[in-house]
Amino acid sequence: PLTTTGELVAEAAARRSAVAAFNVITLEHVEAVIAAAETVGEPVVLQVSENAVKFRAGRLHPIAAAAVSAARDSAVPVALHLDHVKDEALLREVADCGFSSVMFDAAHLPYAENVAATRRAARWAHANGLWLEAELGEVGGKDGRGPLDAHAPGARTEPGEARRYVEETGVDALAVAIGSSHAMTSRDAVIDHALLAALHDCLPLPLVLHGSSGVPDEELQRAVLGGISKVNIGTALSIAMTGAIRAHLDADPKGVDPRRYLAAGRQAVTDTVVQLLRTVAAAPVR
Ligand code: G3H
Ligand code: ZN
Repeated sequence: PLTTTGELVAEAAARRSAVAAFNVITLEHVEAVIAAAETVGEPVVLQVSENAVKFRAGRLHPIAAAAVSAARDSAVPVALHLDHVKDEALLREVADCGFSSVMFDAAHLPYAENVAATRRAARWAHANGLWLEAELGEVGGKDGRGPLDAHAPGARTEPGEARRYVEETGVDALAVAIGSSHAMTSRDAVIDHALLAALHDCLPLPLVLHGSSGVPDEELQRAVLGGISKVNIGTALSIAMTGAIRAHLDADPKGVDPRRYLAAGRQAVTDTVVQLLRTVAAAPVR
């Protein structure tokens, strides 16, 4: 069934565990992630990023409608989330498409502007029944940096500033920069567990780990143990899907039916998500 991100994160946090959130780009991703969640018997968040919406010529509703339909039919609870939104017009589109939450990303703005934009987004989200996540610090590896980037690449989240930020913005969850980075194709990120502990001690809301594809299994489990309640994973699915499709096409150079290679790609995503869900679910409890 379709549920809300707020409920899944709150339940995970209450269990001192984390819910995994997977970035979906195509209908095959949606099907693969839900099939994996059903196999493992774990709830899951499907998230669509602003970049994935741009890939669909700026249209959120087609992929959202497919994800809502698949979530409703699912045997496990599935929540839908709009990820890394910078465009306030896109933010407003999420109100009537079945998504329950959004990550508003103003981390590139100087502190005062980040606070002002995020507070505005959080007020709007709450008035529309949506749960809102924001980011402070810089989880690196996002597409492009602009003149307004507030942080040095890889700048960590500072606990005192984060506390003030949460009070000033009223957000429901905070993405923290503690050593992970987006779009890593190797799993060798080093997490600053002491910083995570300091953030977890002083912040009264769930913490989110972005760029989790580059984090080794044991480090991921330690981060959950240390207070991460939502684990965002995207690139690992891209690696699995692209690798399987490439292998399929190499082995069958004359084939033309897209269903053949898309099925191979979808199965590889399912297998990867099964493993990652098991890793997160097996994290030791605090
Ligand atoms: O918001 C999405 C995540 O941070 C995904 O990061 O693609 O590096 O796993 P990743
Ligand atoms: Zn992210």
